[in-house]
Amino acid sequence: MWSNTIFVFVACLYQSIIAHCKIVTPDDANALQSLILSAYNTDKLDSITLTPGIYRIPFNDQPNSNIILSYLRNFVINAQDVTLLMLDNRKRGITFYNCYNVTVRGSLIIRNDIIPFTQGTIESIQGNSFILNIHDGYPTTLDDSTYFPLETPYYIFDRYTHRLKDKTFDYYNRNVTRIDSRRFQVIFYVTLGSEIAVGDLVSMRGKGNMGISTEASEKMHYVNVIVEYAGSIAWFEMEGMGNNRYERISVRPGPKPLGATEEPLMSANADGFHSSNVFHGPTVINSFFTRMPDDGIAIHGEYQIIRQVNQNIIVIMRKYSRLHYRINDRVVVMGEDGVPKGETRVLRIRTLPMDYLPLITPPWLHFQNHHYYYELELETNLNGTIVSNDFISDIDRTGSGYVLQGNTIVNHRARGILVKARDGLIESNLINGSSMAAIVMQPELWWAEGNYAEQVIIRNNTLMKCGYATSKPSTEQAGVLTIFGTGKSQVAYGHDTITIENNLFVENDGVHMILDGLQNSVVKGNRFYNGQHNVNDRGSNHGWDGGVLVYVNRAKAITLQGNRAWCLGSAHKRRLQMTYLATHITGSLDGVIVDSHC
Ligand SMILES: *[C@@H]1O[C@H](CO)[C@@H](O)[C@H](O)[C@H]1NC(C)=O
Ligand SMILES: *[C@@H]1O[C@H](CO)[C@@H](O)[C@H](O)[C@H]1NC(C)=O
Ligand SMILES: *[C@@H]1O[C@H](CO)[C@@H](O)[C@H](O)[C@H]1NC(C)=O
Ligand SMILES: *[C@@H]1O[C@H](CO)[C@@H](O)[C@H](O)[C@H]1NC(C)=O
Ligand SMILES: *[C@@H]1O[C@H](CO)[C@@H](O)[C@H](O)[C@H]1NC(C)=O
Repeated sequence: MWSNTIFVFVACLYQSIIAHCKIVTPDDANALQSLILSAYNTDKLDSITLTPGIYRIPFNDQPNSNIILSYLRNFVINAQDVTLLMLDNRKRGITFYNCYNVTVRGSLIIRNDIIPFTQGTIESIQGNSFILNIHDGYPTTLDDSTYFPLETPYYIFDRYTHRLKDKTFDYYNRNVTRIDSRRFQVIFYVTLGSEIAVGDLVSMRGKGNMGISTEASEKMHYVNVIVEYAGSIAWFEMEGMGNNRYERISVRPGPKPLGATEEPLMSANADGFHSSNVFHGPTVINSFFTRMPDDGIAIHGEYQIIRQVNQNIIVIMRKYSRLHYRINDRVVVMGEDGVPKGETRVLRIRTLPMDYLPLITPPWLHFQNHHYYYELELETNLNGTIVSNDFISDIDRTGSGYVLQGNTIVNHRARGILVKARDGLIESNLINGSSMAAIVMQPELWWAEGNYAEQVIIRNNTLMKCGYATSKPSTEQAGVLTIFGTGKSQVAYGHDTITIENNLFVENDGVHMILDGLQNSVVKGNRFYNGQHNVNDRGSNHGWDGGVLVYVNRAKAITLQGNRAWCLGSAHKRRLQMTYLATHITGSLDGVIVDSHC
């Protein structure tokens, strides 16, 4: 450590000859934010170096974020062998706001000092409740509303593998009662099934906020930065020009707390990486994400409901204030039935009074109780095809142009990669142990998240042991790789020009691939190995049979070529199932082949 400090010091001295550089030490933890800002604003330096060590960031008066760094440009933060320990685990760790071309170089760990969730073992089960015995060393504040919502999802982990337990779900509690200093009775809305047993391990989501949030920023560069024990999403980016680069970043549990013997089960209270309404999508490479209770990497834009149409002028509503649309942005319009209507541009934006129109109750919960209204003038009305209740989305604020390459996503709840943007590359990632699908593309209206995808390449990924828990018969996203449309139209082909090639599926049960809502796409050279040894009925409510390898549903002009399966198990029934909604499919006879030998 000491030699490291000298090294950093010497490096900084050297740098100060050619540039300028300032050094801070763990003793400066109280003033870290102001030291960084003054290095940039007052001293006009172009970098700062944090010497190795643990920086204990104290409670402060800032709302929302422990450290806020705004309006930095062309700046470097060197933080080799640095840990920033957030004593206040309810706020964000670091927020970068309106920054440009800032490099944060580690290895830097950002960790909440107190784990913002807890864990234990089920001691007994009765009807709709169990008794949870908190593991030594983990928080015993489950009944304290400062740290835990009264109602929160609980997750069941396998005591041997420490993965989510096979065939378990999300369990929402409705109350929690303290029994003694470390035991709680947790009462659920439903009677607990036989999939849960005494001795199973349990964790749940607590309260908290993001690990690192990058807002309204551009060309940020994070190298070797690790988020541990995040209070919600670990890595978040929102709005701005984006084109941020995340290289060798991680999300993982921190060390066991003092006095603990059990390994930590979770790393965060939500997703690993989440990009929302960004102009140019992220580059995430050679990174590592594990033990999140939600998606590994998610990238999306946002739908608004069109309430009024008057030629080129429309009124839209939004849940939050401050619309992210910009003049000249391209927007896409989609009917309620899921059929894309076309693309035009925004010429003018006007904010309307709150509650400008009466509330409506659309089928998607997310769109209920919206109070913010905006008027948009569009370049065209798409030949008069736009009508009220259509969905509109700013396709330039959807994270397009993303690259996800060489990442490892293991053992977590939900989808490995969930992307709703254009011009993407998903290559050479290992997704091993996502409890739901490994990769999904689908507009999700229940979250108002868009869009359909175009020009995406999914290549040379390994998708392994996915879809084993928290995925119900009611899920549409039943394929280990799922491309799915939305709406009820039989011709909702919104996804276009998707290439799915040379991916390796290993040891997955249930449906391996669902192709729905897409056209002009190629599926070739994918290999399915050692799958379907066990029956798995995720998606069965929609008619998906877990014994089928590849489903083709609402799809047009798809080429299947050179896809091969081998060593399949007894739950395997059919290599390929095309529904009557599939049309112009090439390779239906020999595009997916099952080898009988192993
Ligand atoms: C980013 O900042 C670095 C200095 O930290 C500078 O050398 C580089 O040219 C900048 N890049 C851009 C695109 O502005
Ligand atoms: C929750 O449990 C507490 C006792 O721990 C009890 O006082 C309270 O009434 C319960 N709340 C509900 C909604 O059942
Ligand atoms: C509008 O009409 C023009 C001319 O007929 C046609 O080229 C274009 O595709 C139409 N656009 C839409 C969105 O229907
Ligand atoms: C495929 O991905 C693996 C990592 O999963 C990587 O080692 C290999 O180089 C990739 N191959 C190609 C051809 O990109
Ligand atoms: C996938 O995860 C399992 C544990 O769940 C592990 O045994 C296996 O080695 C992993 N495979 C790869 C390729 O990482």
